[in-house]
Amino acid sequence: MKSVVIAEPGKLVLETRALPEPAAGEVRVKVKFASICGSDVHIWHGHNPFARYPRVIGHEFFGVIDAVGAGVEAARIGERVAVDPVVSCGHCYPCSVGRPNVCSELQVIGVHRDGGFSDYAVAPARNAYRVPEAIPDKLASLIEPFTIAANICAFLQPQPNDVALIFGAGPMGLTAIQALKGVYKVKKVIVADRLPERLAMAKESGADVTLDNSEIPLAAQLEGEKPTLIIDAACHPAILAEAVALASPAARIGLLGFSGEPCTVTQQSLTSKELSLFTSRLNSQRFPQVIEWMEKGLIAPEKLVTHYLPLNDVEAAMTLFEKDPRSCCKVILEVS
Ligand code: NAI
Ligand code: MN
Ligand code: ZN
Repeated sequence: MKSVVIAEPGKLVLETRALPEPAAGEVRVKVKFASICGSDVHIWHGHNPFARYPRVIGHEFFGVIDAVGAGVEAARIGERVAVDPVVSCGHCYPCSVGRPNVCSELQVIGVHRDGGFSDYAVAPARNAYRVPEAIPDKLASLIEPFTIAANICAFLQPQPNDVALIFGAGPMGLTAIQALKGVYKVKKVIVADRLPERLAMAKESGADVTLDNSEIPLAAQLEGEKPTLIIDAACHPAILAEAVALASPAARIGLLGFSGEPCTVTQQSLTSKELSLFTSRLNSQRFPQVIEWMEKGLIAPEKLVTHYLPLNDVEAAMTLFEKDPRSCCKVILEVS
C-alpha cells in the first residue's frame, strides 16, 4: 500500500509499505478521503512536540472497514466509518471522568501512531464510528475538525442570547461559527480575521458580522458591544489579553492554542468581570454528536472545502494549504 510518511522532520515521502494487520480489538480501514490539517504540516516541518518519526500522518479520515482483529465482529466489514484519532487508556483519572482526550497515556492517530494519509490504516474498533448514508464520502473526513468545535462548545454552553466573538476564520473558526449559528442558534456571531478572503468564508458559514482587524483594533470597531462568549481560534498568545479586555462581565472565553509563549493577563482584569476561561484539546467522544449535526443538516461542512487532490499530489497539496490561506481552506486528499 501507499502511505505518506514523514521520515524525519522536513522529509515527506510517499512510501510503499506492507498492509497492516488489525491487532485484537482493532479494525483496518481502507481509506477513501483524508483532510489536511495544520498539525500535519507542523509534523512535516518538525514543529509538533508530540510527534515521533517516522510517522504516517493524517488524523482526519474516512473509509470502509475491510478487516477486523480478534474480538471484533466480522459484521463490521464493509461499514463506512470516520475514525476518532483520540486513543486513550480507559482507566487513568481523565479517562475516568470522561476526558479521554487528555488521557495520561494519550495516543493520537497520525501523531503518536500511524494515521490516515495511506491506502489503509488500523485503529481501535471503538474509534471507528459508523457514518450514516446521509453524509457523503467526500465530506466525512470533516467530522473530526467539527468535533473540536463541539468540544469547546461543551465547555462554553452557548445560549441563544449570547453575542459571540471568534478570533480567526481558518478551519477552526469556521467550524465554531457553524456550530454556534447552526446548532446553538446564537443570536449574533462576530468574526475577526486579517484576511478578507477568510472573512468572506466566515460570512458564508453564517457569521453575522465580520471585522478585519489587520489595521484597526477590534476595540474601536466593536463600538462598545461586549461579547458574552469568545473563542480564540487564531491562537496568537496576545489574543487572550485582548479577549479579556473586550469581554462582557460574566463572559466565557474558550482557548484552543498550543503556543509556548506566555499570555499576560492580570487577575484584576479577569476577576473584576468574573470571567470564565476554558481550554479544549481535540475531542472527548464527540463523534456521535457531530455525525448527528451533519446528518440533520445543522452544519455545512462543504463550505470549508476549497480543494480535492489525489493522494499522489500530497506534497503539492500540503504546500498549497500552508502557503496560500487566501485561496485555501480545507484541502481533502482523495485516497481511493
Ligand atoms: P489557520 O491558521 O488556518 O487559521 C487561523 C486564522 O486566524 C487565519 O485565517 C489568520 O489570518 C487568523 N488570525 C491570525 N492572527 C489573528 C488575530 N490576531 N486576529 C484575528 N485573526 C487572526 O488555523 P486553523 O486550522 O483554523 O487552526 C487555528 C488554531 O487552532 C491553530 O493555532 C491550531 O493549533 C489550533 N487548533 C487547536 C486544536 C485543539 O484541539 N485545541 C485543534 C486544531 C487546531
Ligand atoms: Mn485536525
Ligand atoms: Zn487514560
